[in-house]
Amino acid sequence: MSLYMGQQLTVVISSPEALRVTLRDEEMSLVFSDRWINDFAKVSLHADAEGGKNVALANQNYWRKSRKIFVQELMRMTFIKTNCIPVLMDEIASTRDTIARIGANKPFDPHTHLQRLSLNIVMRLTYGVRYAANEIDRKDSKMSKLLAVINDIVKSGSTGVMSNYIPMLKFFYSGIREHRKDLINRRDSILLEFLEEHKQNLDPDDPQDFLDVLLIRQPLDGLSDWEVTLIAWEFITAGTDTTSATMHWMTALLANHPEVQKKAYAEIQSVIGKRGITNEDQPNLPYVNAVVKEVMRLYPVVPLMVPYSTSAKSVVKGYSIPKGTQVLVNHYAMARDDRLWENPAEFDPERFMCKEKAVELKAADAPRDPAMQCLKFIPMGTGRRACAGYALAKVELFLQAAMLMQCFEWSPPEGLDKIPLSEKFGIAVSPMDFEIRARYRDDCGVTVSDNQS
Ligand code: HEM
Repeated sequence: MSLYMGQQLTVVISSPEALRVTLRDEEMSLVFSDRWINDFAKVSLHADAEGGKNVALANQNYWRKSRKIFVQELMRMTFIKTNCIPVLMDEIASTRDTIARIGANKPFDPHTHLQRLSLNIVMRLTYGVRYAANEIDRKDSKMSKLLAVINDIVKSGSTGVMSNYIPMLKFFYSGIREHRKDLINRRDSILLEFLEEHKQNLDPDDPQDFLDVLLIRQPLDGLSDWEVTLIAWEFITAGTDTTSATMHWMTALLANHPEVQKKAYAEIQSVIGKRGITNEDQPNLPYVNAVVKEVMRLYPVVPLMVPYSTSAKSVVKGYSIPKGTQVLVNHYAMARDDRLWENPAEFDPERFMCKEKAVELKAADAPRDPAMQCLKFIPMGTGRRACAGYALAKVELFLQAAMLMQCFEWSPPEGLDKIPLSEKFGIAVSPMDFEIRARYRDDCGVTVSDNQS
């Protein structure tokens, strides 16, 4: 399908077959591997002819370099096991204790707690800092300020903001330009503070976090200060809301489907018994994994992927696509297509235990199966530009989801049969705010602590 978004010619891919001949074709994928960059992102990411200075909106040679650094340093299994998993376990325990304290008595909004969990994981790994639970309610806390910047950047940069497509509109919305300038300044002052502190304390023989690693690589890879800063920042923007929005959807879906919670809890009790869940338990908890996949199918948090741009003229299935066309991949449509799924509108993790058992959560490593089964389920993308954080995200999603299902029974507030579900758009699509109850399961075997860290 093709359409104009404002002045921008846009092609929408919404079938596994179209994916196979574009993003998954060896040669054609070279034409479909640039990103389309909107005006806001150009300024915010210090873009030049090779796109933004991060990973997700970089192009050509700079993208190859930044993605290689990102994946080499952050997605090695030894790094994930020795550095990431201890941080994950620690932060998951802190959020579990907070929810156990507040969820017992009255309904609460889980959003900021889940966002703090994801943010603390990536902040500790990138900058060596974290935010305590009591910072959530303080509007002037460093965490609230940082979250405000992230949320605002996501809103300003998202695909739906029409002034990104119709430049003329910006003259009518003069406030937009001023607001964006202020937003980028606020973000930059936070990031430059991190950069300076890290430069001053750097021990090249003992890097403490990702920013240290990038500073050590800086001369070898010929990176400018802005490139170091924005590759590090990518970890925060790409790694916070994606994971927390997925967990946010999951809590509501669990509350609306007590039968799913019952089954997941029974699996955990029979396989794990009364101890905390570890990453090694993942292969032994197929139903827990199926719940995560079903949440990501029904409510994908990046439903249109990150917009692509064609780097040359091409002909796909007889249609001519000019250079510079914006390309959106509509995972949302594929994940709800009744030609590809049985009862697609239903939340039914069981499908991944039976009929769709072979459909795994994959990214760049998706198999080239001739039946294209895997291409109908791509919540983390597919091909060259698939999620670069996939290895870590997979571990994070499993450990966070398993804890939320093991330790809590989720339910709608009293008087409400189901939590109403509707989308709030940004780069990551999350549910509209809602309140929920979380009863700590006294018999789960995991003890909570009173520590309010
Ligand atoms: C639930 C968790 C996550 C989901 C659903 C998700 C999904 C996605 C999707 C759909 C894309 C775009 C793929 C495309 O355009 O074809 C993407 C790109 C990306 N993701 Fe993730 N992601 C998640 C977590 C993470 C995490 C934790 C990180 C960082 C550690 C991360 C880093 C990135 C980066 C750097 C890109 C850009 C890749 C490129 O353009 O080369 N993501 N992700």
